[in-house]
Amino acid sequence: MKRIAVMMLGLALVLISAGAYAESTGYSAHLKPIIDAKCSSCHGAEAPELPEFKKDKKKHIEMLRGPKMDSYLHLIGFVGWPDTGAVMRRLDDGMNTKDGKPGNMYQYLGSTEEERQQNLRIFKEWIGNWTLKRWKDITKEELDGIKAKY
Ligand code: HEC
Repeated sequence: MKRIAVMMLGLALVLISAGAYAESTGYSAHLKPIIDAKCSSCHGAEAPELPEFKKDKKKHIEMLRGPKMDSYLHLIGFVGWPDTGAVMRRLDDGMNTKDGKPGNMYQYLGSTEEERQQNLRIFKEWIGNWTLKRWKDITKEELDGIKAKY
């Protein structure tokens, strides 16, 4: 009886630590502070919804306004669908891009290379499967690998 209790306790500890690990990177605790500090000046509350942005792209870009990304649901539209892989393509440091150049939003991840790499790592941990593929190319398995937890 005692032995079973010890085993159960051991199992519970394993499950708890596995859960804590899986929950390690989430939007509200880890991503939102970065977005607020580094992205919201151009992708914040004043920024247009993606379809509105697309309608008048030139004007918005001239005014340094990108599409709105200041909430969980807005942001994941640039991770999973409809703009599959956009966050990954724009933030990649050049390790996964075709031309070896960083995506054009990588520069905003930080003011030093160290800070940019640190914040990129948090984005990568959050997303899980860091794929730069678009909707037409991504497989169901690759999509399944995207975590992007709240
Ligand atoms: C100085 C303003 C500015 C900042 C800061 C900025 N962006 Fe952008 N972003 C833009 C503009 C303007 C565009 C649209 C032009 C383009 O596609 O390059 C854009 C486009 C994007 C796109 C592509 C959207 C699409 O239609 O596919 C993504 C993804 C993105 N930004 C992510 C980010 C992230 C994440 C951050 C913070 C780390 C960030 N941006 C910081 C101005 C900014």
